[in-house]
Amino acid sequence: MGAIVASAPAKVILFGEHFVVYGEPAIVMAIDKRAYAKVETRQDGKLYIHSQNLGLSAFFENDNIKVEKGDLREARIKLEPIRCVVEKVLEKAGEKLGLNVEVDSTVPVAAGLGSSAAVATAVAAAVGAALNVKMSKEDIFRIAFEAEKIMHGTPSGVDPAISTFGGAMLFQLDTGFKPLEVKAEVPLVVGNTGVERSTRVQVAKVRKLRDKYPQIVEPMMKAAREIVLQAIEALRKGNLETVGELMNINHALLYGLGVSDESLEWLINAARKAGALGAKLTGAGGGGCMIALAAKDRLDKVLEAVHRAGASAFIARKTDEGVRVEPT
Ligand code: MEV
Repeated sequence: MGAIVASAPAKVILFGEHFVVYGEPAIVMAIDKRAYAKVETRQDGKLYIHSQNLGLSAFFENDNIKVEKGDLREARIKLEPIRCVVEKVLEKAGEKLGLNVEVDSTVPVAAGLGSSAAVATAVAAAVGAALNVKMSKEDIFRIAFEAEKIMHGTPSGVDPAISTFGGAMLFQLDTGFKPLEVKAEVPLVVGNTGVERSTRVQVAKVRKLRDKYPQIVEPMMKAAREIVLQAIEALRKGNLETVGELMNINHALLYGLGVSDESLEWLINAARKAGALGAKLTGAGGGGCMIALAAKDRLDKVLEAVHRAGASAFIARKTDEGVRVEPT
C-alpha cells in the first residue's frame, strides 16, 4: 500500500479554558488550519518519526531512540506523544510493524491552538488507515487523549475532542462533548504573540492559585459557567455583540487567574481599540494566541491592528471537518 495521509483541525477556545479542567463547560470551535500526518509501512520493523514543523526526526526501536535531526532531549520529549499514538494503534491492530510517520502542520506550535492534539489525532487516523484497523472517531479521540496526557499533565480532553469531531462544541468533563448550534458566522482574528509556553505550566499555575484561595477561585469558576451558559444562547441567536462582551468578561477572569501576560494584553488592547466586539486569550495563555471577535466590516481593521501591534495574525473560520483520511 502507498502512503496514507490524514489531517485534523486546530481549534480556538471561545469560552471556558482552564475552568474546563475543573468540570466547568467550555465552548470550542475547530478552525481552518490543519495538521497533516503521512504514514507508510517499512520493512525493517523500525519506527521513524519526522516532524517538519518541530525540525526533529528520530528512529525508535524498542526503548532506544536514535536522533537523525535535532537535539536528543528535545526529540525524546516532543516526539514521545506521537510515538505513544503509534504504539496504541499498533496495539489495537495486534501487529508489530515498521512505520514511517511524517508530520507537517500549518498550526503554530505551543500557541494555544491545540497543535499537539491536531497532530496526535491526524497520526492516529493515518496509522489506523495504513494498518487497515477499523477506528471509530471515538477510538481516535481516546488514543489522542492518551498522548495529550503525556504532553500536558492533566488535560481536560477538549483539544483532541474538537480536533476529532470538528465544528463547534460544548465540552464538559462529566458529560463529554455536544455539537453546538451557531447561527451566525463568528468572524475571528487570531493573533499569535510568538511567546511559546507550556500548557502544563499554565494549568499547574491555576491549580496552585485555586488551592491557595479556594473561596475566591470558586466564585470565579461559577462566573465562568454562567458566561458559557449565556454565550450558548448568544451564539444560537447570532447575537455577536453579547458574545463579544462575554469574551471580555471571560478574559478578565483568566487575567485574574494569572494566565495572561504582557504580550497578550498588548494585542488584546490593540484589537479592542480597533473596534473588536470582544477579545480574549485562547487556550492556556502565558503567551500563545489571543482571539478577537469583530463585525464583518471591522474584521480587516482589527486584523491590521493586531498585525501592527507585532503579532502574526490571521482570520480564522469555523470548519465542520474533524479528523479525516485524505483521498489518495
Ligand atoms: C488548553 O487548550 C486548554 C486548557 O483548558 C487545558 C485543558 O483543557 O486541557 C488550558
